[in-house]
Amino acid sequence: MNDTREDAVPGSLIAQYLSRRTFLGGLGVTSALAGSMGLSMRRAWAQQMPASSLAFDELAHGLDVTFHVAPAHTSQVLIRWGDPVYADAPAFDPANQSAAAQERQFGYNNDFVAFMPLPPLSRKSNQGLLCVNHEFTNPRMMFPGLTSGLQAKIEGAAGVTAQTLLGQMPDLTREQVEIEMAAHGHSIVEVKFHNGAWKVVTDSPFNRRFSMLSTPMRISGPAAGHARLKTSADPEGIKVIGTLNNCAGGVTPWNTVLIAEENFNFYFSGDPASTAEAGNHKRYGIAPDKARFQWARYDERFNVEKQPNEPNRFGWVVEIDPYNPKSMPVKRTALGRFKHEAAAVAIAPDGRIAVYTGDDERFQHVYRYVSTGKFDAGNREANMTLLDDGVLSVAKFEKDGRLIWMPMIWGQGPLTRENGFASQADILIETRRAAELLGATRMDRPEDIEVNPVNGRVYLVLTGNDKREEAQIDAANPRARNSFGHILELMPPGADAQASNHAADEFHWNVFLLAGDPSDTGAGARYHPETSKDGWLTTPDNIAFDSRGRMWIATDGANDNGFADGVWATDVDGPGRALTRHFLNVPRGGEMCGPCFTPDDTTLFVAVQHPGQEPGSTYDTPSTRWPDFDAALPPRPAIVAITSKGKPIGG
Ligand code: FEO
Ligand code: CA
Ligand code: CA
Ligand code: CA
Repeated sequence: MNDTREDAVPGSLIAQYLSRRTFLGGLGVTSALAGSMGLSMRRAWAQQMPASSLAFDELAHGLDVTFHVAPAHTSQVLIRWGDPVYADAPAFDPANQSAAAQERQFGYNNDFVAFMPLPPLSRKSNQGLLCVNHEFTNPRMMFPGLTSGLQAKIEGAAGVTAQTLLGQMPDLTREQVEIEMAAHGHSIVEVKFHNGAWKVVTDSPFNRRFSMLSTPMRISGPAAGHARLKTSADPEGIKVIGTLNNCAGGVTPWNTVLIAEENFNFYFSGDPASTAEAGNHKRYGIAPDKARFQWARYDERFNVEKQPNEPNRFGWVVEIDPYNPKSMPVKRTALGRFKHEAAAVAIAPDGRIAVYTGDDERFQHVYRYVSTGKFDAGNREANMTLLDDGVLSVAKFEKDGRLIWMPMIWGQGPLTRENGFASQADILIETRRAAELLGATRMDRPEDIEVNPVNGRVYLVLTGNDKREEAQIDAANPRARNSFGHILELMPPGADAQASNHAADEFHWNVFLLAGDPSDTGAGARYHPETSKDGWLTTPDNIAFDSRGRMWIATDGANDNGFADGVWATDVDGPGRALTRHFLNVPRGGEMCGPCFTPDDTTLFVAVQHPGQEPGSTYDTPSTRWPDFDAALPPRPAIVAITSKGKPIGG
């Protein structure tokens, strides 16, 4: 483990001066030069430079009913829960909702956002398809007349910070349950920038709603058709209706979108103890006291006693082709089954595809898939099967700074029949158990993971783990009762984005920052020493990079520290490395998701999730009515577009 400030900052600084880091052989050489300079000399160099490349004035930490962005930037609410996805969608009428209407309207709790330019493969930044996940529903904020009930935390998944109101389920009607199902999934809407504002093109032929109620999806890869994926509705185990709890995601080089099924366990009721899947379901948190939805009351596929294999059809990465409105989404089983947070794709120098994914639960693991086949820029169709055949590996972070990718291949090491794995499909269905047997590093809740487009390094966001004891500390998870989270930097061999070998068996790794309040000596936080009183953050969750490789960090859980979630931005190299600056606040009770830039960085799309979700807040008595501030409307999750008079976001 290396310190973020002393080693890497001066190394990159020198690299900037010399402007020939690749020629010199990359980080190793520049760090060695830095090491030979001495501390006082390094500080003197640093003082001559403006610390951060980010030129905006910081916001203050604060908590109120509305949305704030740094000066010189404009924010526009682009699309909200209930807004039309199709031209014929009924107007949003929250007192008279229906599942049929919801299937034509934008879903609930927008999370991941991808901007896919139109035309495809262009860098066009004023017209494109916005692809948005709808992660979960909260009936108390969606339907009138429900009481707030007891406050509860989603055990394991929400950890220390994300309080939810899903703890005690209110009684829901069949129609309300079907509205919930319809509000899950994904939306694709064409968007255009015209006369200084973004608008949704409701009559675009590309617009689509994918819902948990009615959208068929194909299952592919080694576990497709396996006996453990067969149900009475799908005796072949190859087709499933819907996708659940889609959190973050990623975009492939062949311009498809990957969406990650996360906390699928909360939707299943019944006791799996007497079924053949008892151990498997227990490991993923399916238990009578873990259910957070009432869907099994009206649909027996959510009752594990009746359909014990149904949960095995969730927890996958799903691939969507937004440019083909007739295409069927595909669940790619080769990438493993767990509580996927995201999926970041990179191309290795030999053309193989790497997909990085993390399992968002305390003490779970980080994975990487490497395709057998190679990316072919001239043959999109051929790329459509790259995620069906490859090697899944799981990460072991060594204290000497090496990161070992351990392959999860049937018949190798402990992944054998003796340990209950009859084939590769069993490893992919019970990925967590296989990872444990291999001795993978148990992490502090892996949330987003992204590949930096400039330096080629991979950034892994750990949102926190209040259950880690002193005795469980390791180099990559260095704090006990980690309430604040941290960000790791994974370094494949190779000096820059082009040379980075994302298929290598061994990487190196570094701590990028340890979140929390740097003025609180007990917090063990670590940033750039010039981080301001508003520049520190907590519980990092989703990240995005702009085209200059600067990191934009969205948080989930800052409300617990008395201020709003939002976005903080930082350089990753140079004198501003790990100097986080506060850019944006969401309304109280909300979480920040989905930061996503247009290719030219002039628009930043963000997703405000569950505004007003906090103790005592309901549809009838919300703590905010953002974004409409209309007494007849509840708060609504919404996508916000941020611009800066045509200039790149953040200066
Ligand atoms: Fe949906 Fe891991 O947050
Ligand atoms: Ca998340
Ligand atoms: Ca991201
Ligand atoms: Ca989170």
